[in-house]
Amino acid sequence: MKKIFFIIIFAALIISCKKSANYTADCSGPAKSYTTDVAPLLASCSGCHGTQYTGYANVSARKSSVYSVIADGSMPKGRTLSSTEKNSILCWIDAGAPNN
Ligand code: HEC
Repeated sequence: MKKIFFIIIFAALIISCKKSANYTADCSGPAKSYTTDVAPLLASCSGCHGTQYTGYANVSARKSSVYSVIADGSMPKGRTLSSTEKNSILCWIDAGAPNN
């Protein structure tokens, strides 16, 4: 009985570690621009999400959910962004998601 208990705890730990394996952005480079850095990357979302992540108003309204799905790597579905691409999106949001 005890063994099963430990196995369950162990499995739960592994699952929770995987979920919290968030990417930490390196924002030491130049400031990111919505128009030149972020919008082209988010264009790949529209095949599945329509205009949800198109245009500054839509993206800035959804910036916290965009941040979490990019940081945890769950989006874009079916593709993995490079760390440079993740930095562009995450650092732009960290900087207050300016309309630049
Ligand atoms: C191939 C299709 C596809 C692409 C491309 C895609 N998504 Fe998604 N997205 C989905 C589906 C399906 C769901 C809902 C189910 C799920 O989470 O798996 C979803 C859910 C989400 C959610 C909600 C997640 C949650 O946990 O509430 C957000 C936010 C999101 N997507 C953002 C994005 C962004 C930003 C991009 C582009 C960088 C993107 N998606 C690209 C298919 C896609």
